Amino acid sequence: MEIAIMGYGVVGSGVAEVIAMNSESIAEKSLQDSVSVKYILDLRDFPGDVNESKLVKDFNVIVNDPEVKVVVEAMGGLKPAFDFVSACLKAGKSVVTSNKELVATKGDVLLKLAEENNVNFMFEASVGGGIPVIRPMAQCLAANRIDEVAGILNGTTNFILTMMIYNSMSFEDALRLAQDNGYAEKDPTADIEGFDACRKICILASLAFGKHVFPENVYTEGITKITLEDVEYARSWGGVIKLLGRAKRVGDKISAMVSPAFVANASILSGVNDVFNSVFIRGNAVGDVAFYGRGAGKLATASAVVADVVDCARHLEKRKAFGWGDAVENYVVDHNEVETSFYIRAKGDKIFALKKAEEIFGDISILTRENAPEDEFAFVTPVAKEGELNEKLAKLEDVEILGKIRVENY
Ligand code: HSE
Repeated sequence: MEIAIMGYGVVGSGVAEVIAMNSESIAEKSLQDSVSVKYILDLRDFPGDVNESKLVKDFNVIVNDPEVKVVVEAMGGLKPAFDFVSACLKAGKSVVTSNKELVATKGDVLLKLAEENNVNFMFEASVGGGIPVIRPMAQCLAANRIDEVAGILNGTTNFILTMMIYNSMSFEDALRLAQDNGYAEKDPTADIEGFDACRKICILASLAFGKHVFPENVYTEGITKITLEDVEYARSWGGVIKLLGRAKRVGDKISAMVSPAFVANASILSGVNDVFNSVFIRGNAVGDVAFYGRGAGKLATASAVVADVVDCARHLEKRKAFGWGDAVENYVVDHNEVETSFYIRAKGDKIFALKKAEEIFGDISILTRENAPEDEFAFVTPVAKEGELNEKLAKLEDVEILGKIRVENY
């Protein structure tokens, strides 16, 4: 069986490498005599590259070649990925992608196109890099009603936070290291502002709850405002700061959010460090299930892409029924309606402000850290709806809020 790869960056070159590395077993598992890469689409030149002879610059070469049965999209972004993937599906080719943005924003359309053309559209690598999570959720947990999905979904930010927590490394240095290691997106804004994790929670929520969830409907906060002071207060509270994506069934709607959160040391998530990701799924029959592994990186991600290629190869004649339905309006509840508690770090008249905070919020837990300035204080509020907590916080006059992070119980 011949395949094509679109995009010869970190993931695309990893896919070519994994196929070359394990060609015999991949062919065997695919129930094919062989699985080989016929074309690699990229506008750049790669002189002397082992796959130089396969490189093409014209997409039409791929879409018009009937020998190509499966196309791997590893270009990233929406343009031209969406047009190319649509054209491949319409031409009767199955498509495998690692492109979170494409699946999160256009998954509903592409799944429909795949169905109409009796081909497969698969995206295991779009969430959790090398961790198997899409297929296990769709297949192994099929007996369950999924009630909640949550986890650490971005390797770059987890790496940065780990470096801040355990090595006191600056944010900038840690980001540079993550980029050098090939973890970060082309534009790391998507990582550090939480957009990448948002796309991933949208994909998980769409699959878990059956209706397309769009990124613009999911409240998203990144890690750019987290300071080493916040890290210290989290430590004194008994935990660490993690960037969490979470989505939960709430009646016939869902809540969904991406934000940094205090996570207790007792939680398994607190031990998920470096570039590792972890995804928790709560099913009404199975209970809690957790997945853990490398959430980013060349060969880890390629491993998931190639597994999808194998699955497509096994389902060339009869496609797999897989995916979700259209979006529904007002399906994701406003984050102000979601219950949480806040860690607050602020500056002001400490004694007066903490007394006032107690009057406003009730039972707060005061946090301390070594060498804190005289006018700095921190506390954790009781649990309430976010909107209510924010209204109460506005009543805390004459203080400057320096940090506000959710405290989560996972
Ligand atoms: N930039 C992403 C991350 C790559 O750091 O998790 C994998 O999706």
